[in-house]
Amino acid sequence: MNLDENMHSDMDCFKAELSSSDFKAFSDYIYSEYGIKMPDIKRVMLQGRLLKRIRELNMKSYSEYRKYFFSPEGQKNELYDFLSVITTNKTDFFRESVHFDFLTQVVLPELLQKNRFDVKIWSSACSSGEELYTISMVVNEFIEEHPQMKFSLLGSDISANVIEKASKGVYPEKSVDIVPLSLKRKYLLRSKDRTNPTVRVSPLLQKNIKLKYQNLMDPVYDINETFDVIFCRNVLIYFDRETQEKVINKLCHHLAPDGYFFIGHSESVSNMNVPLENIKPTIFRKK
Ligand SMILES: C[S@@+](CC[C@H](N)C(=O)[O-])C[C@H]1O[C@@H](n2cnc3c(N)ncnc32)[C@H](O)[C@@H]1O
Repeated sequence: MNLDENMHSDMDCFKAELSSSDFKAFSDYIYSEYGIKMPDIKRVMLQGRLLKRIRELNMKSYSEYRKYFFSPEGQKNELYDFLSVITTNKTDFFRESVHFDFLTQVVLPELLQKNRFDVKIWSSACSSGEELYTISMVVNEFIEEHPQMKFSLLGSDISANVIEKASKGVYPEKSVDIVPLSLKRKYLLRSKDRTNPTVRVSPLLQKNIKLKYQNLMDPVYDINETFDVIFCRNVLIYFDRETQEKVINKLCHHLAPDGYFFIGHSESVSNMNVPLENIKPTIFRKK
């Protein structure tokens, strides 16, 4: 058989459509385990994302992948890659920058005034770390002026793949265009390899950061700290209202009285039974 024939027969064997029943099995699972809504309009998207794994595993159909995924072996070995293809990890440095201004202009001065010098911040769906390192840059800048203060930062996510990226702290140089030049010079190191221009965050930025896997759907979070600020941005949008309300209540359990809570600009907590008062659009304080 020549190469063309080979490719042809492979394509013939491949079942290119995610059937309704395979879609339902995956979407029910994704919703119940991770809270992520998968209505029927997301079928083509899910089909495309799973195809990547099916190709990598040399499988012939979505049903073969489904059988493998739900087997004990699949549940043990496939979750890492499954989560990395089904989650949407879009993020940026200084994304929705109003929160970083509010942090340094209102939250940190307020804590200083209350003699609370040990600041704890949690980025609860941190993706590949751009949000964490933005926080780290602006807080480091503040602390330079107020050395009596110190801080620690927790980043968590369900995708081990993005947590790994966050722990490396290496990003395409283009992605830091938005970072002010003075901060770039201070906190980001340019790669020598100019064919693939990247930056690496400085050890100072990484020093106070801990990263962990945490599924926000878990009934209780494996976290013993109380935070002054929780970032929960651009993740609630994937959950339905009931799940959003539960998640926010669980997060608030780890928020200090009068601690601050930030959500993404297209998210809302209005009419939810949550212990938060609205300070500004997308900025809340624990009641
Ligand atoms: C669009 S990114 C937002 C990243 C960052 N917070 C920002 O605003 O730029 C959403 C992140 O939420 C994570 N995520 C989705 N469902 C989750 C869950 N049940 N528990 C924890 N993280 C989740 C995804 O893996 C993804 O990295």
